[in-house]
Amino acid sequence: MCREGELMTTSEELVLDIDGLRMRYGPKDVLQDVTFQARHGEVLALLGPNGAGKTTTIEILEGFRMRSAGRASVLGTDPARGDERWRARLGIVLQSWRDHGKWRVRELLAHLGSYYAPYSTKLVRRPWDVDELLAAVDLTEHANKEIKTLSGGQRRRLDVAISLVGRPELLFLDEPTAGLDPQARREFHGLARRVADDLDTTILLTTHDLDEAEKLADRIVILAGGRIIANGTSDELSRQIAGEDEVRWTHDGQRFARSTPDSTSFARELFARHGDAIGELEIRRASLEDTYLTLVRRGESRHGGELEEVA
Ligand SMILES: Nc1ncnc2c1ncn2[C@@H]1O[C@H](COP(=O)(O)OP(=O)(O)OP(=O)(O)O)[C@@H](O)[C@H]1O
Ligand SMILES: [Mg+2]
Repeated sequence: MCREGELMTTSEELVLDIDGLRMRYGPKDVLQDVTFQARHGEVLALLGPNGAGKTTTIEILEGFRMRSAGRASVLGTDPARGDERWRARLGIVLQSWRDHGKWRVRELLAHLGSYYAPYSTKLVRRPWDVDELLAAVDLTEHANKEIKTLSGGQRRRLDVAISLVGRPELLFLDEPTAGLDPQARREFHGLARRVADDLDTTILLTTHDLDEAEKLADRIVILAGGRIIANGTSDELSRQIAGEDEVRWTHDGQRFARSTPDSTSFARELFARHGDAIGELEIRRASLEDTYLTLVRRGESRHGGELEEVA
């Protein structure tokens, strides 16, 4: 028997509900039947090779590009018809943009933040306090610099700060960590997780760093040749392929390595046979990178790598 709440469609809880999205540039389809969903507070990583259609997908959902076909609901609104109030609920980091070069860092954040003041609520104060935000992205000491004088990584941190200044319900991050140093990257991961956990913000991010996707994302969506070829947690994806673990060990001081689908049985057997002569046992499970490469290769060979031209 269903309780009343269960009878409600889930679409109201969905922050992103994308169905059969298609995008055509001239005669060429670059997205075909893209379907996925995201719930409140979920962090989704959209992965895929260069040219797969990640930026195109994100820009359609941001309302910056018009889709050719399909249904899209973003925070309950069709992005092709989103108004100012809807846009104020989004945070956006574009893959690249160069603008506002003459503004100073603090000035620009304060200015952009002022647009969000009318959307402040008791629960969520808007905008985010500029000094707090500068500290969160480690730009305090650059607060009075002109933007055109920032380094690439500093500029990227400012992009992230701009996307967060309105405390968005939904955050689109297109390669947010491209150009960040390892420490800044790690700090960004902490910040993104905090935003998702504390503010219940939904995040859709793209990255070519698979460790980052594994660390940050609740769910991974892989796009290849304009189609979604995988959608699930990192564990679920790795279960889709018969991955092999790599086992390394030493036997009487000599090094050995072997790939095997069942590393536990292999190790048990190894010790049963050779006991104390075995040392430095190391087992490396198939990583997200191995899974990703296999799935993309499989997806591309199934669809010939490119989408067919349409008349
Ligand atoms: N304005 C445009 N006009 C025509 N083709 C375009 C346009 N923008 C993108 N494309 C094409 O659409 C395809 C998808 O591009 P998109 O930028 O979405 O890829 P991506 O997955 O973001 O790649 P990357 O990892 O390199 O950022 C590519 O083949 C690209 O050449
Ligand atoms: Mg892109």
